[in-house]
Amino acid sequence: MSTPLLCEGRVVIVTGAGRGLGRSHALAYAAEGARVVVNDLGVGLDGMPGPDSPARQVADEIRAAGGEAVAHGGDIATTEGAASLIRTALEAYGRLDTLVNNAGFLRDRMLVNLDEDDWDAVLRVHLKGHFLPLKHAAAHWRAEAKAGRTPVARVVNTSSGAGLLGSVGQGNYSAAKAGIVGLTLVAAAEMGRYGVQVNAIAPAARTRMTERTFVEAMAMPGTGFDAMAPENVSPLVVWLGSAASAGVTGRVFETEGGRITVMEGWRPGPTADKGARWTPSEAGEATLKLLAEAEVPGAVYGA
Ligand SMILES: NC(=O)c1ccc[n+]([C@@H]2O[C@H](COP(=O)([O-])OP(=O)(O)OC[C@H]3O[C@@H](n4cnc5c(N)ncnc54)[C@H](O)[C@@H]3O)[C@@H](O)[C@H]2O)c1
Repeated sequence: MSTPLLCEGRVVIVTGAGRGLGRSHALAYAAEGARVVVNDLGVGLDGMPGPDSPARQVADEIRAAGGEAVAHGGDIATTEGAASLIRTALEAYGRLDTLVNNAGFLRDRMLVNLDEDDWDAVLRVHLKGHFLPLKHAAAHWRAEAKAGRTPVARVVNTSSGAGLLGSVGQGNYSAAKAGIVGLTLVAAAEMGRYGVQVNAIAPAARTRMTERTFVEAMAMPGTGFDAMAPENVSPLVVWLGSAASAGVTGRVFETEGGRITVMEGWRPGPTADKGARWTPSEAGEATLKLLAEAEVPGAVYGA
C-alpha cells in the first residue's frame, strides 16, 4: 500500500507563488495532494509592475503534473486583493485549510538614504500583506468553528533572519519581518481556540531576491545537494501546513539547505529590582552589572 499524501484533501493558498520560494512551496504542496491557489501580482524585485503573470504559469505547471491549482493575480496588501484571494479558494474548492504568507519585495538602503516611499512600500507588502490575508482567512475559520465545523487550519508566515537579528541596509525590511514575528505570536494565541495554528519561518535560499548573495550553486561536494535551492525550504512549510503538525503553534523556524532550527525568542535575562525608584546613575550602574552577566546578542547581518 502506498503512503498517504500529507496534504490530501487540503486547500492551500500560497502568496507570491509565481517564483522563488513561493513557487517551490506551491509545487511541493501539490505534490503532497493539496489543491493550490497560486497568488502572484507579478511585480519586479522592487515591487514595481512587471510584464508577466507568473501565477498562471505555476498553476499550469501544477495541472500539467496532474495536480489541481488555480491562479490569483491580486495584490495581497489590499483589502480587495486579500478578500478575493480567500474567496477564490472557497469558490474554486469550497474550503480553505492552509494559508502561506510569502509575497514580498525589497527596497534596500542605509537608513539615512531610505526614502519614506521605500519604507512604506516594504512595510506595506510584507506586514500588511501578511495581516490582510490572515485576517480574511481567520474570519472564515472562526465562522466555521462557530458553525460547529472547527477546522484543522494552518498559517505559515515568512519572516527572515533580518527580522530576528537585524540586517545592515535593510531597516525597512528588518522592521517588517520583526513585525511578522509579533503578528505570528498574537495570531497563534488568538486563533488556537478556532482550530488555527500559526507559525513563521525565516528561510534562506537562492532566488532573484538573493541571487547576488548566494552566487554559487553551493552544492555539497560529492553529493550534488544544492544547499541554497528554494526546494529545500518547502518540506518544512508543507509539514507545518498539514494536519500532521498538530500542537505546533506560535513558533519561528530558521530553515535552509538541510538544516531546521527552532529559534528561541526574547526572554528575561539577568534582572535587578531595587524595590524603589532608581536615580539615573544607579540605573546605569545596575544595568552595566546586568549586561556583564547577560548573553551577547547575535551579530546583525552585514555589521
Ligand atoms: N530568498 C531568501 O533567501 C529569503 C530570505 C529570507 C526571507 N525571504 C522571504 O521569502 C519570501 C519569498 O521571497 P523570494 O526570495 O522567493 O523572492 P521572489 O522575488 O523570488 O518572490 C516573491 C514573489 O512575491 C510576488 N509579490 C510581490 N509583491 C506582491 C503582492 N503585493 N501581491 C502578490 N504577490 C506579490 C512577486 O511578484 C514575486 O513573484 C519573501 O517574503 C522574502 O522576504 C527570502
